[in-house]
Amino acid sequence: MAPLSTTSFPAEAVPQAPEDPLFGLMRAYKADTSPNKVDLGIGAYRDNNGKPWVLPVVKKADDLIRSDPDLNHEYLPIAGLASFTSKAAELSLGASSAALGEKRVASVQTISGTGAVHLGALFLAKFYKVDGANRTVYVSNPTWANHNQIFTNVGLPIATYPYFDRATKGLDINGMLKALADAPERSIILLHACAHNPTGVDPSPEQWRDIAEVIKAKKHFPFFDTAYQGFASGDLDRDASAIRYFVKEGSELVIAQSFSKNLGLYGERAGAFHYVAAPASDATDTTTRVASQLAILQRSEISNPPIYGAKVAATVLNDPALFAEWQENLRTMSGRIITMREALRSKLEEYGTPGTWKHITDQIGMFSFTGLTEAQVAKLRSDFHVYMTKNGRISMAGLNTSNVEYFAKAVDNVVRGTQ
Ligand code: LMR
Repeated sequence: MAPLSTTSFPAEAVPQAPEDPLFGLMRAYKADTSPNKVDLGIGAYRDNNGKPWVLPVVKKADDLIRSDPDLNHEYLPIAGLASFTSKAAELSLGASSAALGEKRVASVQTISGTGAVHLGALFLAKFYKVDGANRTVYVSNPTWANHNQIFTNVGLPIATYPYFDRATKGLDINGMLKALADAPERSIILLHACAHNPTGVDPSPEQWRDIAEVIKAKKHFPFFDTAYQGFASGDLDRDASAIRYFVKEGSELVIAQSFSKNLGLYGERAGAFHYVAAPASDATDTTTRVASQLAILQRSEISNPPIYGAKVAATVLNDPALFAEWQENLRTMSGRIITMREALRSKLEEYGTPGTWKHITDQIGMFSFTGLTEAQVAKLRSDFHVYMTKNGRISMAGLNTSNVEYFAKAVDNVVRGTQ
């Protein structure tokens, strides 16, 4: 007879957790042997052959790094590679940003966007204690699923503000503004800088102004997540305009920045966290103090960040010719996605698929929130080998000229069959 369990981790204490929905989807897709299978799950760019795309500019940077006779594998400083973080801050804030000129920015290299959100969350959990601070983090409904667990893991409660309007499949701006106005003063507000994940719905510049106004009036603390700069519109400056507007208006804020998508450095985990102080006579002192505490948090969590992805990014960001080539690569990616949006919409309209499909081309960035129901998503998977998240999100980059028709026909079939 087997001995009775003596574990310190019984099921009451450590229940079985569900598999991560996105990575579970990736695993299921890989295991599917159908030649027709379509992967619209995880947000990773694919070329028109459905293959991962190493950006040509990244290949060049890679060659330069590898042929450098001084290349070594020493530790980076705790805050990371300075030639990377300084340019990352410029990319987000603009090279001529007053915040940078006035030394009001503290930047730390992180384990990509997730690491940046986590570092920011940890910092806020420990230090956001100013009089009247409401430590609840307001996230859009819906948001990237990982936001919820990153903040709750460090003990910051989550609340939501309306974002996606199911009727229009666009932005519920009135609902959002009202919720921000009703939230207790000094709440933490998580905002997606561009290419909102999962909906692909972004506020217009006028709507961003209204959002900034309410946030300022209620003394809320803005926390920007920027994972798609240059990937949404193909224009790096345009995709950073919301952040730059808040900074120009004098807001104190933080930014979690990822280079996974816009440089295709997914597995290299290249990212940065930036704290930006509001203009004030003691802003530089505040920034120095914040940076000192970020360094302590970083040291205890990861000691110092990984070097390779940051070197690739720094090589591109610091060389004007490579930078220009990167912009071209960004236009290739965003352009192909826009073409696929047009192709999908026109196929569904051609078939007369019940419903309206204009939102496919109105939405922007990696994802489209199709409006398909959970039952329809399940049917797409069981009957057509199409893999997408239950909430109806599709990664547009998974579509190409060879499978867009197949996918549109599958959607048409499923929508008609479940009416
Ligand atoms: C996604 O939402 O698919 C990506 O941001 C990948 C991830 O880490 O979840």
